[in-house]
Amino acid sequence: MSEELFEQVGFTPDAQFEKIISDLMDRQYSVVPGYLSETLTEALRSLLTARYEQDQFKKAAIGNHLNEQVRSGIRGDFIHWLNRSDLQAPEQAFFTEIDRLSAYLNRTCFMGIAGAEFHYALYPPQTCYKRHLDVFRNDDRRRLSVITYLNPPDWTREDGGQLVIYRQEGQEETAIEIDPLPGQLVLLESHTLEHEVKPSRRPRLSLTGWLKTH
Ligand code: OGA
Ligand code: MN
Repeated sequence: MSEELFEQVGFTPDAQFEKIISDLMDRQYSVVPGYLSETLTEALRSLLTARYEQDQFKKAAIGNHLNEQVRSGIRGDFIHWLNRSDLQAPEQAFFTEIDRLSAYLNRTCFMGIAGAEFHYALYPPQTCYKRHLDVFRNDDRRRLSVITYLNPPDWTREDGGQLVIYRQEGQEETAIEIDPLPGQLVLLESHTLEHEVKPSRRPRLSLTGWLKTH
């Protein structure tokens, strides 16, 4: 929307959110480096680590019909779901930010986002998540996948753990590789884009979730 039009409807545009929206419209995903401040990233990383050490993480599931060996070959991460009624201050700050984004998307794009669910994820070294889509047969309410990386500041490209997004461009498929850099946000259309997580040589940390419709 143009500045002028925004003024007419009494709405303050947010440049970062507008960039996300135009990315989503153009190519169904958006990458925002440094979306979370260093302080918030660091605080969330400490909370992830503390909860992991307190045994609050479980192996992520992908369907109960698969045996353990098959399951961990497809998806190797450990996760902890956040509960909105039991959040530490940095987690509360994170949700406040996510709610602001959801409200903006609803207001400008009528996305109809009615809820959000988030989990911490830890991929031990050499584990991965094979190519997949984030919607399940029994729950198609996931509209946008939201990934924020909580890796330490010295994370390098050689550490691996890239997110690969597969996107159809005409007849061609392109693979977009994204390094899981601390504080970086990735948003993608849950219904449209298949993606995978490559193995890393250090534990790979993130806070990942979904904005959902009713
Ligand atoms: C997922 C996922 C991507 C990432 O949890 O479904 O695809 O980069 N995560 O962690
Ligand atoms: Mn996914």
